[in-house]
Amino acid sequence: MFTDSQLLEKVNIYLSHLIYGKQPEGLYNPIKYAMSLGGKRIRPVLMLMAYNLYRDDVDCILSQAAGVETYHNFTLLHDDLMDNADLRRGKPTVHAKWSKNAAILSGDAMMLIAYRLMTDEGSKYVPSVMRVFSQAALEVCEGQQYDMDFETRMDVSEDEYLEMIRLKTSVLLAASLKIGALLADAPDFDADSLYDFGINLGMAFQLRDDLLDVYGDPKVFGKKVGGDILCNKKTYLLIQALHRSDPRQLEQLMSWLHAKDYNPQEKIKAVTSLYDALNIRSLCEERISYYTQLAEISLDKVKVAKDKKQPLLREMNKLMFREA
Ligand code: IPE
Ligand code: IPE
Ligand code: MG
Ligand code: MG
Ligand code: MG
Repeated sequence: MFTDSQLLEKVNIYLSHLIYGKQPEGLYNPIKYAMSLGGKRIRPVLMLMAYNLYRDDVDCILSQAAGVETYHNFTLLHDDLMDNADLRRGKPTVHAKWSKNAAILSGDAMMLIAYRLMTDEGSKYVPSVMRVFSQAALEVCEGQQYDMDFETRMDVSEDEYLEMIRLKTSVLLAASLKIGALLADAPDFDADSLYDFGINLGMAFQLRDDLLDVYGDPKVFGKKVGGDILCNKKTYLLIQALHRSDPRQLEQLMSWLHAKDYNPQEKIKAVTSLYDALNIRSLCEERISYYTQLAEISLDKVKVAKDKKQPLLREMNKLMFREA
């Protein structure tokens, strides 16, 4: 059985030896750049952990682990373009460093490379793995579309928000775990319980992401704090604030949401003060622990010895309190 840091090291070594392509440089340099900036590598590590519940030869599925990480990084290139975000992992994003076209085309290439990595080794599991992967990839697009649609809507409900983050974020964590289980020939019941664990973990993960986007330490977070506020993203925090404001607070919040000409720092400060006054941070934290508990219940259902599940449990707890 491997620890989280051993699995992370395996992923990083494998990724550092991957040759994405050489020419044209305009296509491949942004890919090398994005993949070299690190990140937490959660999805491949979760895939390896799920596999490691049943089998020890985790090196056999490093191609699929690299595939999901490459796919994730592709979504970030397009997401940063859509969110107008210039900073990620403390460095300029691809569209800021190169161009919008570079983010689009290098992103497309990353998605295709991800598919190639996923099908590697030609094992008998490829069809079922690709069904799970393609379904998750399509659902990420659906979630991203809802995320964009919600920017201009003021009546997004909490349920709509939860469904949006399930699609844009949770399904990829869930699919990573399920693919690890499928490749290890795990029983269907376990594969499905691991998928549910990933969904609940993903919900907590995106709620934490929304929280850090307002309250994170800019030096550690690596992204621009306040980015969601500037985009009028319907995050858990904003939806709760819209529901809990008194008439005067609601008027203030609405005037910021509709403002056309404003100082960005002033808007971030004003909206954050409203969140503070309404105690939104602790509401969000409660929701994070609710989904973390659900995740633990899903993991309990997986029919393997308790001590084998420790790495997944530790990973979950680490993510719940993450600062980046
Ligand atoms: C960022 O994902 C996008 C979200 C789903 C919130 P991560 O927080 O996993 O990003 P990296 O790969 O660690 O930078
Ligand atoms: C990310 O949501 C979801 C995907 C990348 C699919 P965010 O837009 O909140 O992610 P960050 O904050 O930019 O990493
Ligand atoms: Mg974004
Ligand atoms: Mg986004
Ligand atoms: Mg975010």
